[in-house]
Amino acid sequence: MIHDDLHFMPPTTSFMFDDSRHQERMDRRYRYQRHVFDLSRKFILFGRERAIAALRLGEAHSVLEIGCGTGRNLKLMAEAYPALRLTGTDISGEMLKSARANLVRARLDNRVSLQQGDAATQPIAGKSQRVLMSYSLSMMPDWRRALAIAIDAVELGGILAIVDFGNFGGLPDWLAEACIETLSRQDAPPCLELPQELHRHASSRAISVHHEYALAGFYQLAIIERAP
Ligand SMILES: C[S@@+](CC[C@H](N)C(=O)[O-])C[C@H]1O[C@@H](n2cnc3c(N)ncnc32)[C@H](O)[C@@H]1O
Repeated sequence: MIHDDLHFMPPTTSFMFDDSRHQERMDRRYRYQRHVFDLSRKFILFGRERAIAALRLGEAHSVLEIGCGTGRNLKLMAEAYPALRLTGTDISGEMLKSARANLVRARLDNRVSLQQGDAATQPIAGKSQRVLMSYSLSMMPDWRRALAIAIDAVELGGILAIVDFGNFGGLPDWLAEACIETLSRQDAPPCLELPQELHRHASSRAISVHHEYALAGFYQLAIIERAP
């Protein structure tokens, strides 16, 4: 279970995992990569600033990032919006070590809470006005369930922004296939059916959905707004 009101909780808490192998896989992947993650992903994880802008944080007081990694986005959001209350969750204890260190270094650790947990198997207790999933959905084996859980975590009138790898539709077929295969081998198969899944949700609940592929399909951006 992921708690929403974390402001007064210790900086890092943990809870039961349904899929310990996924946690182990993520920890193995990031044990060493976390030290070079921000630098090496700078020119790969496109669209993150756009996703943050889509959250319209000036109108919000709470934001949750699911799969926060090294805390790069949390730091950006906290610095830009001093009144914002922030929470980051991640399945990888290794990534959270970096997130904690980065937030302490930036003197933001008193404003940002971190939690370890599997966002694809545990319902999130409580709701946030804004929720961000930045290149985390594609790493969750049951991403459809993670998407449903994330939508449920948004307050009425709130916004969920998702940015992740796209379909590479602007590239020649052989190159697009090579990109998708490479990402799949890196535990991040692009969620190629995200638009259909979002429209399925939109047909059964009060949400509006904007979805687009950008940069030759290198990334996809989805903005889901819950009706007040
Ligand atoms: C590619 S990193 C992105 C980090 C950060 N959001 C960013 O934009 O820099 C993906 C993150 O998702 C986390 N993750 C993967 N599966 C997860 C799950 N089931 N629950 C929570 N976090 C998960 C990984 O541990 C990793 O830190």
